[in-house]
Amino acid sequence: PSRATSVVRVMIVRGTVRVPGDKSISHRALLIAALARGTSAHTGLLTGEDVRHTAGLLRRLGATVSPLRSGAVVTVRGARFRSPRCALDCGNSGTTARLALGVIAGHPIHARLTGDASLRRRPMRRVVDPLRSMGATFPDGAEHLPLTVRGARLHGIAYDSPVASAQVKSAILFAALASRVPVTVREPRTSRDHTERLFLHLGLNLRAENGIVRYQPSAGAVPAFELGIPGDFSSAAFLIGAAVLAEGGELLIEGVGVNPTRTGFLVALERMGAQVERLNLGALGGEPVADLLVRPALLRGTEVVAAEIPALIDEIPLLAVLASRARGETVFRDVGELRLKESDRLELVAANLRNVGVAAEARGNDLFVLGTDEPPRGPVETARDHRLVMAFAVLGTIPGAAVRLSERRSVSISYPGFFRTLRAIGRGTRHRD
Ligand code: S3P
Repeated sequence: PSRATSVVRVMIVRGTVRVPGDKSISHRALLIAALARGTSAHTGLLTGEDVRHTAGLLRRLGATVSPLRSGAVVTVRGARFRSPRCALDCGNSGTTARLALGVIAGHPIHARLTGDASLRRRPMRRVVDPLRSMGATFPDGAEHLPLTVRGARLHGIAYDSPVASAQVKSAILFAALASRVPVTVREPRTSRDHTERLFLHLGLNLRAENGIVRYQPSAGAVPAFELGIPGDFSSAAFLIGAAVLAEGGELLIEGVGVNPTRTGFLVALERMGAQVERLNLGALGGEPVADLLVRPALLRGTEVVAAEIPALIDEIPLLAVLASRARGETVFRDVGELRLKESDRLELVAANLRNVGVAAEARGNDLFVLGTDEPPRGPVETARDHRLVMAFAVLGTIPGAAVRLSERRSVSISYPGFFRTLRAIGRGTRHRD
């Protein structure tokens, strides 16, 4: 039972908008800048809470990070890291926790990391195991936060990761960068490659071929750098979803990162019958960017196979919501990783779709959604998961919908102005976030 109804309607979509900076790249930009010699400057950095936690953590380790204000340049002055006196709070951010474990492991310091109730339930062994075999120690456990990491002068490894996880791959690469040791990482499927692209953009010695990433340290410290950060494709995806479900009009989203390891959502959506035009292709900070032009479409169900999952992992709640408006059934294969995100997204997506009148079910590690024409009506338990809020808010934009969200504040984790922009595209204005 809740009072927070998603009241935003988008019948005719219109406008030109921008989305906030990419969350994954923002974390990485701050972390590498804190390891660099001198003062780096970032434009377009996300100011959401997850990235604020990375900035706060780096300040406690000794780096100087200017305040994170939307639209402002953020400067970072690197420093010799010191052991912080109190526990480092990673909030809701798995990326902060796992990447920071890697960075800290590569320094001769120790730190205790903790986070909110959601983050304290998420698995940490996937990064602890490789960091241990590089020489770091974890005196009070390996499974969950809070935990302590004791860094060291590490040794290099060749690591065969059991999961396709950019956080695991990046923790190892950051540990290697900090300790100046060579590493090789192989993953079962290619996860997002922002760390690799940033290393290459900064002239570091990295090679990525056939799913294997090799890093070889070069002499001297990373020099300070300037970086522009593209709009977050995962945030743009929610606006794309709202535009596809609208009854008319078109929406232009400018300056969005379209790294192919992130845009699997577009591939699945186009198979379902929508068309998203990529215009003005360019590059920013070693990443491809484009303007995305979206029009409403009638959707049909599809099968999303296991090999596609890493490139659309964060968009599955949204794709499931869109599938509930498609003709026929949609199935997502092998999406067990969804249980380990900010909430158990596999069970909660299915349960919330059922709450609003859609036939949906998690069977084993697969998710099934049957499309319907009935307007969605009912309560949605977001579990304070930002992506569940935004996915179901998109469902709430269609005529006749009555989707009642248990809360909506958690959008500030990744997309602080989301509801403002969602309203704006329903009215047809120009909006920059
Ligand atoms: C992220 C990697 C993904 C993704 C998360 C951000 C990153 O997680 O789901 O939202 O920035 O590296 P995994 O590495 O656990 O797959």
